[in-house]
Amino acid sequence: MDYKKYITLVNDWPKEGIEFKDITTLMDNGKAFKSAVDEIVTYADQLNIDLVVGPEARGFIIGCPVSYALEVGFAPVRKEGKLPREVIKVDYGLEYGKDILTIHKDAIKPGQRVLITDDLLATGGTIEATINLVEQLGGIVAGCAFLIELSYLHGREKLQGYDVLTLMEY
Ligand code: PRP
Repeated sequence: MDYKKYITLVNDWPKEGIEFKDITTLMDNGKAFKSAVDEIVTYADQLNIDLVVGPEARGFIIGCPVSYALEVGFAPVRKEGKLPREVIKVDYGLEYGKDILTIHKDAIKPGQRVLITDDLLATGGTIEATINLVEQLGGIVAGCAFLIELSYLHGREKLQGYDVLTLMEY
């Protein structure tokens, strides 16, 4: 499917000079959203996934329907101060800012095969931090799936040695 026709490009948001890729217009279309989720499920089917992990907030939107279809659990990665129990943390850099990501310490069992999902691969800071959290807990990153890759930001360079699926490239 040509998913790009469902993405809305928004100039100068959230900051001047950034062309934001708005996925809400893809999510708003039932057939396009289902097709995108199904493609990720088909990819994950060959990876023997035990758990899906997705970073706040748009990683949840992609990861939850994928985990439901795979009949495996979903573990959220959240910004600092949002998860109620014991967490591990990592600092990370973003396309436009810096933050801390956390995951519950008991969210992943050592040896579990994890699929990481997110809407967007930009600089790769978020996925790198998420991989760091998964591996700190002994999880194996079996694959990483995104709707969109901004190849001009070279995030994929941070994913050498990992299996990656992206559905659209800008
Ligand atoms: C966006 C996007 C990815 C990340 C990609 O999330 O949803 O998670 O940035 O950028 P990167 O590859 O440069 O790290 P954001 O941090 O804006 O959080 P949100 O989904 O909670 O708005």
